[in-house]
Amino acid sequence: MAKVAVVYFSAQGHTHLLAEAVAEGAAGVPGTQAELVRIVGEDITGGRWKNPEALAKLSAADAIIFGTPTYMGGYSAQMKAFIDAASEVWFKLGWKDKLAAAFTHSLGLSGDKLNTLQSLWINAMQHGMVWVGLGEPVEGTGPDNVNRLSCYSGVMAQTDWGQEAVNPGDKKSAAILGARVATAAARWTKA
Ligand SMILES: Cc1cc2nc3c(=O)[nH]c(=O)nc-3n(C[C@H](O)[C@H](O)[C@H](O)COP(=O)(O)O)c2cc1C
Repeated sequence: MAKVAVVYFSAQGHTHLLAEAVAEGAAGVPGTQAELVRIVGEDITGGRWKNPEALAKLSAADAIIFGTPTYMGGYSAQMKAFIDAASEVWFKLGWKDKLAAAFTHSLGLSGDKLNTLQSLWINAMQHGMVWVGLGEPVEGTGPDNVNRLSCYSGVMAQTDWGQEAVNPGDKKSAAILGARVATAAARWTKA
């Protein structure tokens, strides 16, 4: 049984919807257990995130998929607080050889989302994790199209101002990423 954890922050719910799609995509791969781990502001005191139970869930996973809104061209402060707290795992290289992947959501079509994914990639590399990209061509640039924002290093999603639901193409891309990571995790954990 391969375990895939999706750790994410979401203020207004869009990244949460994507996280659910990622987990559904992962859970659709036979033999996969997918779990959502949400970063919440209540776990941050004095700028420091603390949630040992959440960290334990991530340490028990074979793959960790990181998700965050893009804020000011990078990941959110809440994601950063979590990443800094996870440095206690890094000291022991506790996540070494786990698979890693990422998704981000923002208002702008670009919104400088690439910087967010690259920063999450660097964090994963510091942990000695193995990165899984989207691996999916651009279907088109319409709202229903997979990989409509033309990103290969993870999933980029975008929602217009005032729009509650995420675009169907972004949701499909998120599910594809989850399924790809789960498929890779099944191979990775094969005895
Ligand atoms: C502090 C802040 C900074 C933001 N910076 C950007 C940005 O650099 N690029 C962008 O496209 N959208 C930006 N946005 C819009 C967010 O990306 C958008 O609100 C977020 O993705 C919504 O996700 P959520 O519903 O999961 O909270 C910013 C929003 C906030 C609150």
